[in-house]
Amino acid sequence: MKIVVIGGTGLIGSKTVERLRKKGHEVLAASPNSGVNTITGEGLTETLTGAQVVIDLANSPSFEDKAVMEFFETSGRNLLSAEKWAGVKHHIALSIVGAERLPNSGYLRAKMVQERLIKDSGIPYTIVHSTQFFEFLGGIAQSATVGDTVPLPSAYFQPIASDDVADIMAEVALSTPINGTIEIAGPEPVRMSDLVARFLKATNDPRKVIADPHARYFGTELEDGSLVPGDHPRIGAQRFEDWFSHASPWPH
Ligand SMILES: NC(=O)c1ccc[n+]([C@@H]2O[C@H](COP(=O)([O-])OP(=O)(O)OC[C@H]3O[C@@H](n4cnc5c(N)ncnc54)[C@H](OP(=O)(O)O)[C@@H]3O)[C@@H](O)[C@H]2O)c1
Repeated sequence: MKIVVIGGTGLIGSKTVERLRKKGHEVLAASPNSGVNTITGEGLTETLTGAQVVIDLANSPSFEDKAVMEFFETSGRNLLSAEKWAGVKHHIALSIVGAERLPNSGYLRAKMVQERLIKDSGIPYTIVHSTQFFEFLGGIAQSATVGDTVPLPSAYFQPIASDDVADIMAEVALSTPINGTIEIAGPEPVRMSDLVARFLKATNDPRKVIADPHARYFGTELEDGSLVPGDHPRIGAQRFEDWFSHASPWPH
């Protein structure tokens, strides 16, 4: 089966491509570097010709509110219209647990627009809502840093390892579209401020995390239930310690 992975060179994209190739599928890792650009439209029709499944794992180069909205809106429109032309049978996208609950975040508003375009496209689809990746803990710390401190919400989240996400994305690609959303999460709910503090300590980072219920996470305040999944998520196997023990490039 021909499968196109948009953003196939990224964190989740490259791992998903590897898993599907191992199963013997013809998998194209599409990205601007390989001549496929969902913003300009470059290379889209050629790449999608003959494809049955498209997995959209692209991400915006900028997380600034206006830029990220433009990215997911333009990318979604161009990609879905090229998929319609090519007769793609299953569109899969990776979005975020709780995105619909947090309209004050510009990034999450943009993900909701991406989801709306998919639902309105008429192409059979599966949307995967994931919690934050462990690999994103450094990015969370970076986005909240003020001098030597990192004020962060004390609300719960339930992060997942990128390897577990990629296992599930590859499985979804080989399944029938559900025209709905599934949720995936890591095995443990934990307070964001606690886990980021553990991560910084484990990486010998001197910044000090300050737990503050009113601190913003990408533009929005969080409640305990904002970023945790509902009743029946699929659960990734790796706990923080499992992931950290083989993650790189941090010294440990
Ligand atoms: N971070 C999290 O915790 C989290 C949680 C849940 C869901 N997600 C979602 O997961 C998805 C994948 O995230 P990730 O961290 O794996 O992304 P990533 O590592 O930043 O990779 C982004 C990919 O998008 C490609 N890309 C950028 N602009 C493009 C364009 N104009 N046309 C085609 N491809 C383009 C990049 O290609 P180049 O390498 O050539 O630039 C790269 O392959 C995102 O949609 C994100 O919203 C993230």
